[in-house]
Amino acid sequence: MKNKIFIVLSEGISVDKKVLSFVKKSISKALFLLKLSSKEVCLTFTSDEHLTKLNYKYLGRPYPTNVLAFPMRKGKGLKISHLGDIIISIDTAKKEANLYNLNFENYLLALCIHGLLHLLDYDHQKGLYAPWLMQKNELNLLEKLAYKEGKKELLNFIKRREYMPAKLAVNVDHVATVREARKSYYPDPVHAAVLAELGGADGIVVHLRLDRRHVKERDVRIIKEIIKTKLILEMAIDEELIKFAKEVKPYQVTLVPERPEEVTTEGGMNLEGKVEEVKKVVRELKKANIKVSLFLNPEEKAMELAKKTEAQIVEIHTGIYAEALNEEEREKELSKIETAARIAKDLGLIVHAGHGLNYENIGPVAAIPEIEEFSIGHSIVARAIMVGMERAVREMKELILRART
Ligand code: PXP
Repeated sequence: MKNKIFIVLSEGISVDKKVLSFVKKSISKALFLLKLSSKEVCLTFTSDEHLTKLNYKYLGRPYPTNVLAFPMRKGKGLKISHLGDIIISIDTAKKEANLYNLNFENYLLALCIHGLLHLLDYDHQKGLYAPWLMQKNELNLLEKLAYKEGKKELLNFIKRREYMPAKLAVNVDHVATVREARKSYYPDPVHAAVLAELGGADGIVVHLRLDRRHVKERDVRIIKEIIKTKLILEMAIDEELIKFAKEVKPYQVTLVPERPEEVTTEGGMNLEGKVEEVKKVVRELKKANIKVSLFLNPEEKAMELAKKTEAQIVEIHTGIYAEALNEEEREKELSKIETAARIAKDLGLIVHAGHGLNYENIGPVAAIPEIEEFSIGHSIVARAIMVGMERAVREMKELILRART
């Protein structure tokens, strides 16, 4: 390997020789893996005090940070051989490794790789896909370069430090509810699904209830045909519905409990003593190439049992959080959701959440890094009525006026 890795230790900073050699070799290998073998990089290990000064001078932030990267080649493409400087505070690196319970060598390497990717113009603070791409590269490199001991924990930490915003799956059930109020043919949830996609929905959700009170088989079939994103079919465990799902093949089925008299889904599934029964359904749907999600209350036990059913996804019930009567209760429920999400992700499950979320309460849950997708219906349909009312009335008024002029 031709590349040169320069390591500078600031005055008063000492790092074990073995650690320095591990970092130097690993960054050299990282450049090789990135097909940048001929490039050079300078790593400076320094103090919190020094990094605070640099952070203030160059970024206007008067506090310490773990790593700063100063690229040499801004706007000069890859022609230039010196990629730039990565400056790391050993004080902060040690504190953070301790705080996150990570092995120091591996954490220091993760910071160096983070800085190296910044030198190559990767940026986790820009746009929709750049954060995902940066994280993917960090994980790929650390998978190959980190010490075996503590590697799993490090990779989980990087995965959990999700940069990506969560996705939004829009539930159009209540468009069908309005249609069914008159047993009419409009408004059509199929049209609503297309409009939701135009608005940026990442998926469309429909709940085919046992009593078919809103969405019907026809809606599910046409939505599946017409949408460009993914169809998520919510349903109870029922033989006829399983047969229907296998025929229509939505991207995902979300299994929910259902009580005939309920106004809406009242809570998560109770998996106690039902793991084998649910596992049978999960396997049957997975065999038909359908992903399976289980709607569950934010409880540790529920996440553990979900893992045993072999479902790939859990949707954490946010209804109790949404209905909390005061701030204290809301915070308590939020923490339950956070903990359940962390446990589920650590178990290797994909984490979604939903129920009762609206324009006022979405913020805190949307910040939970483990949650990859939200399923929201009622509040969006309700808002659509409100923001559309003025135009709808104006259009009708115009038709009435024009009839005689
Ligand atoms: N997730 C599940 C499992 C649901 O049953 C529902 C309601 O159909 C939702 C999310 C969406 O809830 P809301 O309509 O309150 O946004």
